[in-house]
Amino acid sequence: MVKHNVQELIFAARSAYVEARDTMAELRAGKGERGLAEMTAECVAHVRGVSVALMIESTWDEEALPALSRLQLLHIIQEALTNVRRHAAANHVSVHLMVETGHAHIRVEDDGCGFCLSRFLPELLDPVYYPRSEFHRGLSAMRRRARAVGGTFRIESSPGRGTRVIVWIPMNQSEAV
Ligand SMILES: Nc1ncnc2c1ncn2[C@@H]1O[C@H](COP(=O)(O)OP(=O)(O)OP(=O)(O)O)[C@@H](O)[C@H]1O
Ligand SMILES: [Mg+2]
Repeated sequence: MVKHNVQELIFAARSAYVEARDTMAELRAGKGERGLAEMTAECVAHVRGVSVALMIESTWDEEALPALSRLQLLHIIQEALTNVRRHAAANHVSVHLMVETGHAHIRVEDDGCGFCLSRFLPELLDPVYYPRSEFHRGLSAMRRRARAVGGTFRIESSPGRGTRVIVWIPMNQSEAV
């Protein structure tokens, strides 16, 4: 039984590694290949049940962004969209990519039910104390991913007033991988 579980864990870890490696390779590919903007467009195209607008400003310049930062951003956008699909009951969500003051600036905003942020502050601010919780890992994971590449993560929400995920990541951070 234990052996079986360990094997499953090893398999899951290997699959996650292969997936991350392949994504990194794609994001590294640069001009003419599938970059973050295109992969975000694919994510957006797969969202069902809510209308999604992807807005890529002319300032967007993902080739100036380290591959690891792009990977973290892609995961953050995916989790933000997953949360909208699962929790928001929104009519509309927008994903905005731009560069401002030397930072990649990403906003995912929905017009859904919103939520009371204070209910999730412990998990968000100090996930270490909740290591056994299998639930509500998304917010802290988004924050951790932004911080891992020198960025900041902010979420704004209140009941009945939608949710905004806002991320800033410096463009000129040296390539970490
Ligand atoms: N866009 C949103 N609209 C409404 N509620 C949200 C939204 N995003 C998050 N929430 C609320 O915040 C909670 C915590 O989100 P989080 O992503 O951390 O966990 P989760 O989605 O419940 O589980 P998982 O660990 O699978 O991500 C959600 O359960 C939900 O109540
Ligand atoms: Mg989630």
